[in-house]
Amino acid sequence: MRKLLPFMKKYVLYAISSPILMILEVAADIFIPYLMSLIVDVGIANKDINYIVQLGAIMIGAALLAMVFGILSAHVGAKAGYGFASEVRKELFGEIQDFSFANLDDFSVSSLITRLTNDCNTLGQVTMMTLRMAIRAPFMMIFALIMAVNINSSLAKVFMIAIPLTIVAIGLILSKARPLFLKMQSKVDRVNAIIQENLAGIKVVKSFNRQEHEGKRFKVRNDEYRDTALKATSIIIFFIPILEMIINGTIISVLWFGGQQVVLGTMGGGELIAFITYITQIMVSMMMMSMFFMQLLRGSASVTRISEVLSTKSEIKEISEPENELIDGSIKFEDVCFCYPNSADLVLKNVNFQIKSGEVLGIIGSTGSSKSTLVQLIPRLYDATKGKVIVGGRDVKEYSIKALRDQVAFVLQKNVLFSGTIRENMKWGNENATDEEIIQALKYSQAWEFVSEFEDGLDHRVEQGGDNFSGGQKQRLTIARALIKSPKILILDDSTSAVDMTTDAKIQKIFKKELNDITTIIIAQRIQSIQHADRILVMHEGEIESFGNHETLMKESQIYREIFESQSKGAISE
Ligand SMILES: Nc1ncnc2c1ncn2[C@@H]1O[C@H](COP(=O)(O)OP(=O)(O)OP(=O)(O)O)[C@@H](O)[C@H]1O
Ligand SMILES: [Mg+2]
Repeated sequence: MRKLLPFMKKYVLYAISSPILMILEVAADIFIPYLMSLIVDVGIANKDINYIVQLGAIMIGAALLAMVFGILSAHVGAKAGYGFASEVRKELFGEIQDFSFANLDDFSVSSLITRLTNDCNTLGQVTMMTLRMAIRAPFMMIFALIMAVNINSSLAKVFMIAIPLTIVAIGLILSKARPLFLKMQSKVDRVNAIIQENLAGIKVVKSFNRQEHEGKRFKVRNDEYRDTALKATSIIIFFIPILEMIINGTIISVLWFGGQQVVLGTMGGGELIAFITYITQIMVSMMMMSMFFMQLLRGSASVTRISEVLSTKSEIKEISEPENELIDGSIKFEDVCFCYPNSADLVLKNVNFQIKSGEVLGIIGSTGSSKSTLVQLIPRLYDATKGKVIVGGRDVKEYSIKALRDQVAFVLQKNVLFSGTIRENMKWGNENATDEEIIQALKYSQAWEFVSEFEDGLDHRVEQGGDNFSGGQKQRLTIARALIKSPKILILDDSTSAVDMTTDAKIQKIFKKELNDITTIIIAQRIQSIQHADRILVMHEGEIESFGNHETLMKESQIYREIFESQSKGAISE
């Protein structure tokens, strides 16, 4: 919680004024039963109408004041609570944007979503409740106790039994409910996880006709959540009647003993009425406190989950005075080994190679041979476990991350477009790109063919994820988006896999002829996509099997020859 408190800074005035206003409300509230006792014992007893009217007016005034203070306090409390939560949410969102790929592997996306939504909401609500209840309840209890003792100290002895009894009851119930509340939070996580996975892949679910299976999976988790929530609530349900029993027991004993005093004339009837009102106030404030503790339980689980994200720091760090300019687009791998943070397997083993600036490098190899892993080290999406990745003559760790990623454009294997227009998507690559530059990039990536056919051209809508484009169209748009960055190095990870062969050949030609100052790395499954590259890397199980151009590889690399033959024959040999 200490880590989160600084986010309250902007709302600190609200956070302070809420309890102050609350205390004023409580003071007015407490005053009312006292006035009532005076009306009964003095006004009514003496049949003094004037006195009754006067005190009645004061009572109305006090009630109005209590109302105004109450509304104001709730209002500023809500501002502080939700403001605080929104600050924390903003910070969380920012932190997640800075996460390295390794961090993203650690937290699941659904869990991050739950933390950003559910947990932040809980935090806001609990803060609001804390500001209201945690302050109101003890004050109300203390004031009411003082007033009760003031009215009749011998009668106030009933509290010596009632209060400890209530505390024991609350303690028992809370200790039973606590583990269930904590469990509820993790059950919510599990429900969210399944919803997120299902919705992200809803089309696959439908095409495989797996709705029923998915429905069952969802039901299991949903039921688990319901049962835990029910269990927790059923414990809480006992709470109210137990408390009522204690309140009623206290009232009966007060009426019993107090009634005798009234008969004897040592206590006024009005005083007895006021006393009973104070009992209710004391008990209600104890109930409030226990509700508050319950909320605090929920809140503490959320705080832990939020702090986990906040205290996760990207292990991809910059040096203190980083370089901002890549001199050229040359690339060198020196003895590079890599294993993913969440696994022990070495997926890159002693990789060594070098290419000059402006060259086209093709990478080919079976699936899982670590092609994507290898290129992810160039813009530091991950850091090499061992060895050095040298770009533009310097270790990648010497550049500022922004500069490096601006100058190394990467079209990821699983790339997405964002909702908006085509122009907006293209401007991701470079905010200041003009329409001419965008059209040029679209022409290079062979996307202009279809974009120019839209009536609204660059203003054409892109749905979330780019779902209103075909696979090949999407790939061509993502290549254009990368080109708009005017990078020194361009990495295309299987980015033309869904593009037809003729268009693919046109794109390859452009890279070789028009964009020959950009170092281009093309990962492909088709030999045709890389055959004309200056150099080709053949990957096999995380190692370089061979390195050279098409002609030498045809002679020297058995794997390359096999791929070539199988693809040129277009048939799988027996
Ligand atoms: N985020 C990750 N966490 C852990 N292991 C991973 C992760 N991504 C990939 N791997 C593992 O690393 C190995 C290499 O994967 P990589 O994606 O680099 O292969 P690839 O050659 O690009 O395959 P494809 O041709 O199918 O794209 C695989 O064994 C894979 O299981
Ligand atoms: Mg890959």
